[in-house]
Amino acid sequence: MSCSKSTTTSIQQLGKRLLEWYEANGRHDLPWRQSQDPYHVYISEIMLQQTQVERVRNRYYPLFLNKFPTLSALAKASLDEVLAAWSGLGYYQRAKNLHKTAKLCPQGLPKSFEELKKLPGIGTYTAAAICSFAYNQSIAVVDTNIKRLLCRLFALPNPTPANLERLATQLLHPTRPKEHNLALMDLGALICTPKSPKCGECPLKAFCQADDPLLFGQNKSQKREKKTLHFGIYAQEGKLAMVRSTQKLYEGMLLFPPASPKSKPIATYRHSYTQYNLTISLHPLHAPPKNAVWIDVQRVQEYPLASLVTKGIELLRQKLVL
Ligand code: ADE
Repeated sequence: MSCSKSTTTSIQQLGKRLLEWYEANGRHDLPWRQSQDPYHVYISEIMLQQTQVERVRNRYYPLFLNKFPTLSALAKASLDEVLAAWSGLGYYQRAKNLHKTAKLCPQGLPKSFEELKKLPGIGTYTAAAICSFAYNQSIAVVDTNIKRLLCRLFALPNPTPANLERLATQLLHPTRPKEHNLALMDLGALICTPKSPKCGECPLKAFCQADDPLLFGQNKSQKREKKTLHFGIYAQEGKLAMVRSTQKLYEGMLLFPPASPKSKPIATYRHSYTQYNLTISLHPLHAPPKNAVWIDVQRVQEYPLASLVTKGIELLRQKLVL
């Protein structure tokens, strides 16, 4: 996009329409938008990366901040406490990186985009979001919703991330960059949706170059791979033997110990996680594993347990095995 006089005028008109729409229709009540505290913004952005807004808003965000109200409180906590607060959210590497970052800068996050990007788990998107939403810097934020919207707006079938960053920067409102980013985010999430965009309600319809929006900005949906996992169950006196996972997918979390698939399972269930559709079989063990970590089955919320595990424990309870 060259910046001729007429292009500049239409960018200004687009920006005006967008902000008017946002004022009337934006998700202003999201709790992280009520705060300018960089720590709050940071926690919300990391949580929102792979988790739906409603789950973050209703449960994980308030509980996490209640438990670790500041970056320095997070730095002082043990990794197990942080992972326990993250239990059920998945992608546990996110929680490990939060903890590492808190330990590196317990007194506060840096203010520059480049310094933020040096921290564990903070990439281009998160650094830009913190700079925009916490520090009000004039920087474009490009999340998946905004990417899709820009692809459609400019009818781009296959743009590079650099193309999209450049376009987003050219569009950025000169005096209200933060609201502009939030507005694009909401327009992408509420109107310019992946499967059934509501073009009739879109404030940017007059500017949109996509005749058929479904031809642009679609993620190739990846098929989930099927996998069967066999775990062992050994319980005594209300305690269950677990092991610390070294698998990348669940690193640092407690998992059921491995078991041979030969014995008859006590329970079988399905669970979807990241790119997998899992079938889990739980088998009786005759002895605890050597490296057992014992957990009290009445206090599961205090341990770093993935949903795969809490689901299994719940099933064993229903079957009166525990
Ligand atoms: N507001 C600020 N960042 C957000 C995000 N990642 N998702 C939804 N709303 C947000």
